[in-house]
Amino acid sequence: MIAYSAPGKIILSGEHAVVYGRPALVAAVNKRLKVKLAPAKRKEEKTPEWKQIESVVFEYLNSERIDFKIKDYKIDIESDIPVGRGMGSSAALAVASVACLLEFFSGKRFEKELVNNLAYKIEKYFHGRPSGIDNSASCFGGLIFFRKEFEFLKVISKLNFKIPDNIQSRLYLVDTGKPKESTKQMVDFVGSRLNENPSRIRLIFSEIERASKQMVVAILKEDLELFAKAMQKNQDLLERLGVVSKRMSQRLKVLQDLGAYKITGAGGLQEAVGFVLFLDLSGEGERFLKDQGFSWSRLKFDQQGLVRL
Ligand code: PMV
Repeated sequence: MIAYSAPGKIILSGEHAVVYGRPALVAAVNKRLKVKLAPAKRKEEKTPEWKQIESVVFEYLNSERIDFKIKDYKIDIESDIPVGRGMGSSAALAVASVACLLEFFSGKRFEKELVNNLAYKIEKYFHGRPSGIDNSASCFGGLIFFRKEFEFLKVISKLNFKIPDNIQSRLYLVDTGKPKESTKQMVDFVGSRLNENPSRIRLIFSEIERASKQMVVAILKEDLELFAKAMQKNQDLLERLGVVSKRMSQRLKVLQDLGAYKITGAGGLQEAVGFVLFLDLSGEGERFLKDQGFSWSRLKFDQQGLVRL
């Protein structure tokens, strides 16, 4: 039996602006997907997604003339990463499955770089034009600073420091529900706002870039106040972009009295805006979230990325 597990991710800063060449800061989180492969006597019927994953792996093994044996197997997948909620569940599936299949067929273990490249190919099949941050965060773990310079040049850097405990211990992930709009619809919405008013929206993107860099500095210096400031600034800018529904924007405002917050991901126009990061500076956060009827979980980060079990 061969088993690998890979984490999901959240965007700490830079969503939307990242589509226009600004940086984004992404972190792997401690929600994981596990893939197990065990030899089987009979061939199992595979889903189209799985067939795609398999074909990327075979194509690689063939092209590199790596010795491998085709064997029947049974797949077992377990996950606590919410599906379709911007937490990178498909990327974690791609990363863990590639690692499993490569080892199952060839009997060898491969470098994370290679697993990540193949997982990116699979993500392209799942999503069309993914940035590559989800699979990179899942494969390498930790913090990823990402910037698209050109369509053919995406700079994906793993930062060699982590979110300090004084920040992590105060972070919560609040669930406002699944937005009615897809990520693509939200990206198109921002695109149309940019067309209508290029100078205003470009200025917002520049300020988001500043907030993202401020957040990196805050993490490096373990500066809680600066982190809170960067987070709230980012939320204000996302509201100015129009990706936080009026209703949710009103409802979330109370959190500012306790610390700072921002949406993470594409946002929403009607009501739900997906997950919200909340930094509790007051120590009263949990009680308050409960009283306000929010659904939430503690946010913990992952440093390991892909792991062989
Ligand atoms: O939460 P997600 O992974 O759906 O993130 C969307 C982030 C956007 O910047 C809005 C779009 C993108 O492709 O980067």
